[in-house]
Amino acid sequence: MIKKIIVALYEGEVNVVAHSYGGTIECDITKDRVELIIADTGPGIPNLEKAMTEGFSTATDEVREMGFGAGMGLSNIKKNSDSLDIQTAQDSPTILRLTFLIS
Ligand SMILES: Nc1ncnc2c1ncn2[C@@H]1O[C@H](COP(=O)(O)OP(=O)(O)OP(=O)(O)O)[C@@H](O)[C@H]1O
Ligand SMILES: [Mg+2]
Repeated sequence: MIKKIIVALYEGEVNVVAHSYGGTIECDITKDRVELIIADTGPGIPNLEKAMTEGFSTATDEVREMGFGAGMGLSNIKKNSDSLDIQTAQDSPTILRLTFLIS
């Protein structure tokens, strides 16, 4: 479970650095679940369905040179979390809410 949280958190964090103006990460832990809220200040994702597709990426050359931009981050977050909710739109913040159940 820790590995899943680390992978999802890492992918979310890289997305904030690579694709957004900056943001914050909040972590809330109860005895039943771990919740992560990764929130940035924009520019948002215009087409979320496309962005969730494996292999789709708008990463810049600069980001690709650092080894990112395979277009696998969002699908990895989805695979590794028990629930994923994304609020986003063009010219808006992006807010990811990830839940990991402690069983
Ligand atoms: N926080 C964000 N703000 C704006 N756009 C985003 C954000 N996160 C993802 N995106 C958009 O969704 C696309 C897909 O994201 P995803 O994490 O799956 O791949 P990637 O970041 O391009 O490459 P990888 O994660 O494999 O290094 C990004 O290329 C970008 O267009
Ligand atoms: Mg990514």
